[in-house]
Amino acid sequence: MADRCRVRVATEADLGGIVAIEQEVFSDPWPRESFHRLLSQLALVADDGDEVAGYILAHWAGEESEILNLAVHPEQRRRGIARRLVEEAVVRLVANGVRLVFLEVRASNEGARAFYDGLGFRQMGRHPGYYHRPREDALIMARTLALH
Ligand SMILES: CC(C)(COP(=O)(O)OP(=O)(O)OC[C@H]1O[C@@H](n2cnc3c(N)ncnc32)[C@H](O)[C@@H]1OP(=O)(O)O)[C@@H](O)C(=O)NCCC(=O)NCCS
Repeated sequence: MADRCRVRVATEADLGGIVAIEQEVFSDPWPRESFHRLLSQLALVADDGDEVAGYILAHWAGEESEILNLAVHPEQRRRGIARRLVEEAVVRLVANGVRLVFLEVRASNEGARAFYDGLGFRQMGRHPGYYHRPREDALIMARTLALH
């Protein structure tokens, strides 16, 4: 259950677990080096004390932020882990003055679209042919963050 998972800042020691999920989940996975470079930005993992169950990477500049990557291990889904990862990232982004978070999602990825919709993200536009392997449009989704 998500209760058994801890959400924390990712470290280099998590790279193996992150890359293993990335390669299992995505048809066009990021290479290890991409994750390595982004660890200094906002990178969180959920772990169950043993293994990485999911991760989120985001970056920000000024009041705008982008979720760059988010995935949960297939055996750990629908337990609220991704929700906790996004909400923990949002807390940290708000603390840094971010007001708008956006992301791209494959048009055919109905599960992720439903997930983001449930967290208050709304479709703002489309990037034709943005993805490769297979080539596909990206939908741009965004959520305005309330300042506390
Ligand atoms: C999308 C993803 C990150 C969701 O992770 P998750 O930990 O299973 O999500 P949560 O358990 O936090 O889901 C919270 C809510 O989002 C919605 N949701 C999540 N996955 C869904 C799906 N496949 N279909 C419909 N709704 C979904 C549900 O409302 C869910 O609440 P519920 O389980 O009580 O019904 C996960 O399916 C995944 O890793 N997918 C592959 C990678 C991916 O698509 N990443 C996003 C790229 S932009």
